[in-house]
Amino acid sequence: MSEDLNIVAGTKTEQYESLIPQIEGLLEGEPDLIANLANVVAALKEQFKCLWVGFYLVKPASAKASADVELVLGPFQGPIACTRIRKGKGVCGTSWEKAQTIIVPDVENFPGHIACNSLSRSEIVVAIIRNNEVIAVLDVDSEEPDHFDETDKVYLEKIVEIIGF
Ligand code: SME
Repeated sequence: MSEDLNIVAGTKTEQYESLIPQIEGLLEGEPDLIANLANVVAALKEQFKCLWVGFYLVKPASAKASADVELVLGPFQGPIACTRIRKGKGVCGTSWEKAQTIIVPDVENFPGHIACNSLSRSEIVVAIIRNNEVIAVLDVDSEEPDHFDETDKVYLEKIVEIIGF
């Protein structure tokens, strides 16, 4: 494994096309999930300089929660973030509930958006599905409004497919 990520300029598509084989290389032969998630978010952060990028994993709920399971903060890069999110809450909990990717062009216009960081203006959350169940989400936040589009959706969905959960 080479130690440095090859960061490229260019269109979003060119950036993802360069990044994906490198992510495949990073994950190859490594069975540890946390190590792999940590390297995926580091690679995304380095290439795209996003405000925040991280995983939330579906895990047993804390004793005080009414639900059995909730999203719990996993490996991330960026400012500190809320640790637990219930199903249907915020963008992450909505992506989990609907089992689909959600693009939020303006977080102020998403009812129930959870503002972990006041600088965040737009967001994409990808639901990660295995055996027909959402087991985690990938959340990316930007300081720019309307930053994420179909290209991000297509490529981020490809990236989460590469990860062996
Ligand atoms: N904004 C998210 C919460 C997670 S943070 O952005 C890191 C949401 O509404 O679910």
